[in-house]
Amino acid sequence: MLGGTEFVGRAVAEAAVARGWQVTVFHRGRHAPPPGVRVLRGDRSSGDGLAALGQQEWDAVVDTWSGAPRAVRDAARLLAGRCGAGPYVYISSRSVYAEPVAAGADETFPVVDASPHDTEAEDYARVKRGGELAAADAFGDRALFVRAGLIIGPGENVGRLPWWLLRTARGGDVPAPGPPGLPLQYIDVRDLAEWVLSAAARGLGGTYNVVSPPGHTTTGELLRTCVEVTGGRARLCWRTPESVLAAGAEPWTGLPVWLPPDSADYDHMHRSDVSRALAAGLRCRPVEETVADTWEWLRRIGGRAPMRADRPLKGLDEETEARLLAMPD
Ligand SMILES: NC(=O)c1ccc[n+]([C@@H]2O[C@H](COP(=O)([O-])OP(=O)(O)OC[C@H]3O[C@@H](n4cnc5c(N)ncnc54)[C@H](OP(=O)(O)O)[C@@H]3O)[C@@H](O)[C@H]2O)c1
Repeated sequence: MLGGTEFVGRAVAEAAVARGWQVTVFHRGRHAPPPGVRVLRGDRSSGDGLAALGQQEWDAVVDTWSGAPRAVRDAARLLAGRCGAGPYVYISSRSVYAEPVAAGADETFPVVDASPHDTEAEDYARVKRGGELAAADAFGDRALFVRAGLIIGPGENVGRLPWWLLRTARGGDVPAPGPPGLPLQYIDVRDLAEWVLSAAARGLGGTYNVVSPPGHTTTGELLRTCVEVTGGRARLCWRTPESVLAAGAEPWTGLPVWLPPDSADYDHMHRSDVSRALAAGLRCRPVEETVADTWEWLRRIGGRAPMRADRPLKGLDEETEARLLAMPD
């Protein structure tokens, strides 16, 4: 496991340990590793940073890198001869598709231009596509690209579901971006992890959109569940998409998860085709379980969600919230 101590990588490592697999995590040492793993230390962005990987042989590699593709290139080259017939699983993203991304886009949809040798980490789509190309250069058809969409669940360090949970826990009038019946698409990090491990065990290669089917939940179901699990003190005040935008609330970041219906961004994030992953065994737990377990995790860690330093803060400021509440419903 290259990484394995934060959100997605940690979930994969924990699920692998739970399966009785022998798991090694390779990281710098800034976050505590999950229990039950062996630890190797190194810095992938420095010249001899991979030295700790030594000459050992592995059955499979899972890599969550989201920085410059060159780090994936170097690791994949080093490990290519040391994994037998095992795969290199690269946790990629549906952000690699070239915008505007049509509703129903599957794995054949055009992607952005990128290079596996890139040393830049500015453009997320290019970074993730470059990582895919780097894995493919070294592992060929044993490279597995897991193009995840929106990922939520316990351990989230991006602040989307945690923001909604902490806001509804505070109670009072909470502006809710309508319509409540808007279909949403996301993946619980634990379902993603299980799919990754099953795919790795089967030696699956190729490209998969890995996110729930469109409409696995709706905005209404998601937010009502947040209200319920946090004690029922919040009152959802539904506002039309037009009111949300007129109030200056930012889709996706200010109002996490939400994108205006009938927008290209909504089609991209919430209407993707996932039949390939479903046919390859993807199972998605009910939203109630994801929300309740994430709330339990947040409470266990004292109600302060960890936040990645390289992602914008999520949620509405007080002024925007008040402006939105004052808009007609
Ligand atoms: N969140 C979403 O909605 C979403 C959607 C689609 C795709 N994705 C993808 O999901 C993945 C998220 O993975 P993640 O949560 O596990 O976090 P990540 O940022 O990919 O990885 C962080 C891990 O890498 C280690 N690390 C960081 N810099 C390092 C370095 N220079 N050398 C060695 N190790 C280093 C960290 O270890 P230490 O800090 O412990 O040293 C930590 O274990 C990304 O690939 C992202 O693109 C996310």
